[in-house]
Amino acid sequence: MNKDFLHITDFSAEEIQAIFDLSTRLKMETHKGKPHHLLRGKTLAMIFQKPSARTRVSFETGMCQLGGHALFLGPADVGLGKREAVKDLAQLFSRYNDLIMARVFDHEHILQLAEHATVPVINGLTDYNHPCQVMADIYTVLEHRGHLDDLKISFIGDGNNVFHSWLFLAQRLPMQLGLACPEGYDPDQELVEKTRSTGLSEIVISHDPFDIATGSDVVYTDVWASMGQEEETEERAKIFQPFQVNSELMEAAGEKAYFLHCLPAHRGDEVTDDVIDSPQSIVFDEAENRMHVQKAIMVTLMGAT
Ligand code: CP
Ligand code: NVA
Repeated sequence: MNKDFLHITDFSAEEIQAIFDLSTRLKMETHKGKPHHLLRGKTLAMIFQKPSARTRVSFETGMCQLGGHALFLGPADVGLGKREAVKDLAQLFSRYNDLIMARVFDHEHILQLAEHATVPVINGLTDYNHPCQVMADIYTVLEHRGHLDDLKISFIGDGNNVFHSWLFLAQRLPMQLGLACPEGYDPDQELVEKTRSTGLSEIVISHDPFDIATGSDVVYTDVWASMGQEEETEERAKIFQPFQVNSELMEAAGEKAYFLHCLPAHRGDEVTDDVIDSPQSIVFDEAENRMHVQKAIMVTLMGAT
């Protein structure tokens, strides 16, 4: 097994299944109030260059439930690559901590952290991908659907970091993965080609949301302007308007379609209130599952199962 979790493809399909089995056990025990101190006395350094609610709270709470401790390090604490070289920080935290989780802008920085750290490094989002998110997403789909056969996932919006993690997942689990994005907001072409070349999944990229969403198991969306793209917010709001997930699009998707969103949601922009608040929306199960799945990932990387 890889030392780190930087991309979903760091795990094999079998390892992903084992993480889901462990997530289910940890979730049940948590709900029953049964302690599981599998990481007793261990510490997690959490480095954040960008804001976060879910990632910070789910890792910090999860680590506490595992009997360990998490340390929050914001941009003012760690000037990653500015106050101090990434490789020096990697070595430093490896002396103090048992695990590192980082949310950074430049994907190269997470790769450097992992290269120079002697402890496992977990990717908590970069400009390129968001693997913990999509592990929790697919686990939530499995939980609700009961299986992952004949899966049609439709991502409506930007070909961004979250969509990239869906592409990585499509290299491990078979699915029909569609993206409807405005022209010029396509995902990384090299990653699309790499995913297609594995021959496991069908990847469809279109500029028509109805084309993609019709007859889906899951309709997924994300913010139109990601963290770091705040200056483009107004311009993107105009360009992405036809890609809003609203009741008309959900009707095309069909009654059995679940609505997912990594959150935070910009209600009234990429998704309307009636969709995110509808019975088809499972966004809070999805957010809760971030914690259970990440606990399983930490326990697995630490060999503490
Ligand atoms: N979905 C997600 O990663 O949320 P935060 O940015 O709040 O961590
Ligand atoms: N694409 C979004 C995801 C937030 C969890 C961003 O990068 O801001």
